[in-house]
Amino acid sequence: MGTNRKRVLSGVQASGNLHLGNYIGALRQFIDLQRDYDCYIFIADLHAITVPQDPKALRKQIRSVVNMHLACGLDPDKVTLFRQSDVSAHSELGWLLNTIATMGELKRMTQFKDKAGGKAEASVGVGLFDYPVLMAADILLYEADLVPTGEDQKQHIELARDLAQRFNHRFGRTFRMPKPMIPKIGARIMGLDDPSVKMSKSAASAGNRIELIDSEDVIRKKVSRAVTDSGSEIKAGPKKPAVTNLLTIMCALTDRTVAELEKEFAGKGYKEFKEALADTVVAALKPIQQTLAELEKNPKYVDEVLARGAEKARPVAERTLAAAKQAMGL
Ligand code: AMP
Ligand code: TRP
Repeated sequence: MGTNRKRVLSGVQASGNLHLGNYIGALRQFIDLQRDYDCYIFIADLHAITVPQDPKALRKQIRSVVNMHLACGLDPDKVTLFRQSDVSAHSELGWLLNTIATMGELKRMTQFKDKAGGKAEASVGVGLFDYPVLMAADILLYEADLVPTGEDQKQHIELARDLAQRFNHRFGRTFRMPKPMIPKIGARIMGLDDPSVKMSKSAASAGNRIELIDSEDVIRKKVSRAVTDSGSEIKAGPKKPAVTNLLTIMCALTDRTVAELEKEFAGKGYKEFKEALADTVVAALKPIQQTLAELEKNPKYVDEVLARGAEKARPVAERTLAAAKQAMGL
């Protein structure tokens, strides 16, 4: 069935609780794509360990990220949902690609610059530096046509394309060229307490993000404390980064346009707008949280889903890895 369907692949790190940026930028797309595409979605645990993780907490976190994908509507009968470290071909192809990647191109990666930010080179982990090469391996192993992610991953996907092209040129056509797939609205959700930084799992302040497991009270508090801009209109624009971000969140969750929302809130104040936004977020997350609570009652189910996913992913990845080794003379 569906052998000519396009293939979609994406990964989400298991380094913390998923937040509204992950949902709007990535997870929601997966749910939409699973009907018409051959989807491979994985928990990027090998990427998560590029920054220090507590082993016990990581193990728990991996399961909770899987459960959250299921709760958001990912159907393991339609999607191959697996854990990156269960398929050893990721690490192996990562190594092969290391031999054609250059220090120069990795040093240009903005995520590396952000994450390593300010630290002396001697103390920055090699894994953090090499992270995009492993990501290229993730993508190329599955001959992905499309890679849905938020804006922050676009540069990494472009590196995967560069490495694929270089490899194919040197060793003969082996890899398919992937394309990034970045949502038109919500590709970069910013921090609620600081619209100049992105919403992220690793931001120090909890006020930066709304986690998908936040209670109604917490959501209302975070939205009411979200920073706003000078002036009182509910209008998007470069001079209003905070309000633009809040409008973007509301647009993404309601499938309405910025213009429609600006019209609805014309003449109204921030308080009224924030209350409506909090209602929207609560309504979007409530059914997800209810499903999550059900899923968490059955921990065996996650194990089954992951085992099934790894079994489906492995042969696909191993075929590409074998072709790459063969092409290189190994
Ligand atoms: P990560 O949490 O870094 O593993 O990201 C998982 C997915 O969510 C990737 O596709 C990211 O591009 C996306 N993502 C992460 N943060 C944001 C954000 N603030 N806005 C939109 N998408 C995001
Ligand atoms: N680097 C991605 C992130 O932080 C996660 C990821 C790892 C990924 N491998 C991938 C995304 C392959 C898309 C394709 O969000």
